[in-house]
Amino acid sequence: MKPWVKTETFTKSGRGSVSFVGGGPGSVDLLTIRGLDRIQKAEVILYDALLDSSFLEIFPHDAICLYVGKRSGQHSRTQEEISALLVEYASENKTIVRLKGGDPSIFGRLAEELEALKKNEIPFEIIPGVSSVTAGAASMETSLTLRGVSRQVIILDGHTVLEDDKSWAGMENFQGTIAILMGTGKIRELAEKLMDKGVSPNTPMALAENISGKNEIFSTTILSDAKINGIPKTTTGPGILYVGEAIRNLLNRTNSDHITAVKP
Ligand SMILES: C[S@@+](CC[C@H](N)C(=O)[O-])C[C@H]1O[C@@H](n2cnc3c(N)ncnc32)[C@H](O)[C@@H]1O
Repeated sequence: MKPWVKTETFTKSGRGSVSFVGGGPGSVDLLTIRGLDRIQKAEVILYDALLDSSFLEIFPHDAICLYVGKRSGQHSRTQEEISALLVEYASENKTIVRLKGGDPSIFGRLAEELEALKKNEIPFEIIPGVSSVTAGAASMETSLTLRGVSRQVIILDGHTVLEDDKSWAGMENFQGTIAILMGTGKIRELAEKLMDKGVSPNTPMALAENISGKNEIFSTTILSDAKINGIPKTTTGPGILYVGEAIRNLLNRTNSDHITAVKP
């Protein structure tokens, strides 16, 4: 085994370049300082869905800003078109920000866009962001790992995972928290699958909607109930399902328990 370090440093040297910026879960004040710096210097910004409209206020006035978002099967551009736009603007020597929701490395189609840049020898950098997965835990005032209770965290794509049997291997012995993204349309089926794979019917399940946004809201139940009744969505915004013992303290929580909440 050979250790390695990055030998190429990202430099903007008169050539077009792309900064992939993790925008965080939606709220503009969860953007990193480095991400903000690149946005302020950008000549072109290609941005995703799920970011709050207040992001538009921090975009430079003279930048070309294109919405290239995809939500629930409604795609403003295909993945190929987005990659082609990056290459096209970079070949015009533009400084580009590709702004993605949450962290670019989690279900962000980063690999496809990187491949297009590498193929065309376009310099790039990746700036991490706060993922909605961890932002949700912060909002629920809980921890995804918990000493002696939850030693692992797995992140599943609820959109396709039901058809992929391999993703459920070993679930009967899983001692941790499962975060399911893009799964709010299949809550009953996901709860049923988890129980079929050996997860206890008494395991807590939470739905966190609009994490970090204005209409943030949480609902909790247990798997056996979710299998029969689902968890009704309260908003039309995005949601994450959390499953595991680490969130048991959220069961039966009411609004009046939420005494420590500080909202900007
Ligand atoms: C394509 S994935 C992108 C995830 C993103 N890269 C991240 O790290 O948060 C989109 C899914 O993330 C979840 N999501 C993203 N932002 C969210 C938010 N503010 N509230 C709840 N769920 C969110 C939803 O499950 C949504 O369908």
